[in-house]
Amino acid sequence: MLPPSGNLSSLTLIRPDDWHLHVRDGDALDVVVPHSAACFGRALIMPNLRPPVTTTVQALTYRERILASVPQDMVFEPLMSLYLTDNTPLEEIDGAKASGIVIAAKLYPAGATTHSDAGVTAIELIHPVLERMEKLGLVLCVHGEATAADVDIFDRERIFIEKTLSPLVRHFPGLKIVFEHITTSEAAQFVRAAGTNVAATVTAHHLLFNRNALFAGGLRPHHYCLPVLKREKHRRSLIQAVCSGCPRFFLGTDSAPHAAHTKEAACGCAGCYTAPLALSLYAEAFEAEGALDRFEAFASLNGAAFYGLPPNEDKITLQRKSWKVPDYYSYLNDKLIPLCAGETVAWELDASMSDRVPS
Ligand code: NCD
Ligand code: ZN
Repeated sequence: MLPPSGNLSSLTLIRPDDWHLHVRDGDALDVVVPHSAACFGRALIMPNLRPPVTTTVQALTYRERILASVPQDMVFEPLMSLYLTDNTPLEEIDGAKASGIVIAAKLYPAGATTHSDAGVTAIELIHPVLERMEKLGLVLCVHGEATAADVDIFDRERIFIEKTLSPLVRHFPGLKIVFEHITTSEAAQFVRAAGTNVAATVTAHHLLFNRNALFAGGLRPHHYCLPVLKREKHRRSLIQAVCSGCPRFFLGTDSAPHAAHTKEAACGCAGCYTAPLALSLYAEAFEAEGALDRFEAFASLNGAAFYGLPPNEDKITLQRKSWKVPDYYSYLNDKLIPLCAGETVAWELDASMSDRVPS
């Protein structure tokens, strides 16, 4: 593990990657892509558009639209994922692997989260696809929540592990699986005990907040995401997991932009917009645990290694300097309200210290 250089007032680390990111499409891209490109070298782009990104051809054209929104002075590489459906043809898996750019396929249990209605209704239906992915070495990213209506929302991840993920790992021991945005001690424990083919992303908000944040002084829609925030004991387990030094935990913000009126509504959308401040929040979480020496591996090394990619070549520096998170960004004739809007965070990305050379 490479320790971050620096002292208490600054933190220099290999440029991190975001292994779970939503950037949407169309006009949204110009608002949100620059926020991620400012600090992350690469991001694994989630395919839950409407309609979903189910083919490699769609993924590659979507990637071009994302690249068109990367500011001139930044270098940012979107890596793509396919949205698995009950009917994903085996040829799509072959094409994804051959592209070298689509590096994963995403399992959304149908109905589990935002734009997941086209997802998989029964895991057996995609067994042939999973077998092909196992053979070719294409990573399976999993939204790990049980969807049956009678499962309590706070138990969905645990039940998914029991009913779906454990059997899946046994059935496909060679399949590389990323358990996305884990939220529970059961998930952390499952990944720690699993073999080298099973990893997990962890968001900044699940490291910093427990479910009380959803109800602090009133209903807080901007803290609502799926999987939903859990009890404090689960947050503690996640912190321990990412600070444990286990290389199979890595950074995935799950930054998920939604226009303000769709979150501040009678039936509000799930998703926290964290791209502009995620790195600061992660640094706060590691610092609070006295584990800043483990931060670089989590943010910049472990994910790339799991996906079989080299780390980024340049570095970034975070300065210990309080800055106020904007109240909102203009977004699609509405506002995009980031997590912690109007609040102060402790670490700021020092753009002048970036040694990235624009292409
Ligand atoms: C995500 C979104 O808005 O696309 N929402 C969320 O609450 N995390 C979907 C997802 O990753 O579950
Ligand atoms: Zn997500």
